[in-house]
Amino acid sequence: MSHVFLSVIDALPDGAAAGFDAEVNGEQVPLLALRRGAEVRVFHNVCPHAGRRLEVAPGRFIIDAGTVMCAAHGACFTIPAGDCIAGPCRGQRLREVPSEVRDGALWVDAGR
Ligand code: FES
Repeated sequence: MSHVFLSVIDALPDGAAAGFDAEVNGEQVPLLALRRGAEVRVFHNVCPHAGRRLEVAPGRFIIDAGTVMCAAHGACFTIPAGDCIAGPCRGQRLREVPSEVRDGALWVDAGR
C-alpha cells in the first residue's frame, strides 16, 4: 500500500477543514481533511447531495458549530466524522479515504 503526503498536522487548525488535491487510485481528486483535537479524517471533497465541492472558494470552508457547511445548499457535516446532520442530504455522510497521522504528518492511502 502506498501513501500520499497531505500536510504537516500543525498546519491544520483544530476544528477546521482543509482542502487538498491528491492522486488516489491513479486519479487526481479533491480531498477534505477535518480535524478535531488529535483526530484527523480525510474525505473526498464531494457533497453527497449534488456532487459539488464543499468550499465557498478554493481553500475556504464555512465552519459553524462544529460542522463544515456545503456552500452550495447548506448541508452540514460533523467535524471530524463527516456525517450530515442538517440540510438536503441529512443522514448521509462524506466518503472517507483511509488516512493516518504518522510523525506529525497526515498521509492518505493512495490505493493501487
Ligand atoms: S451540493 Fe452540497 S448541499 Fe447541495
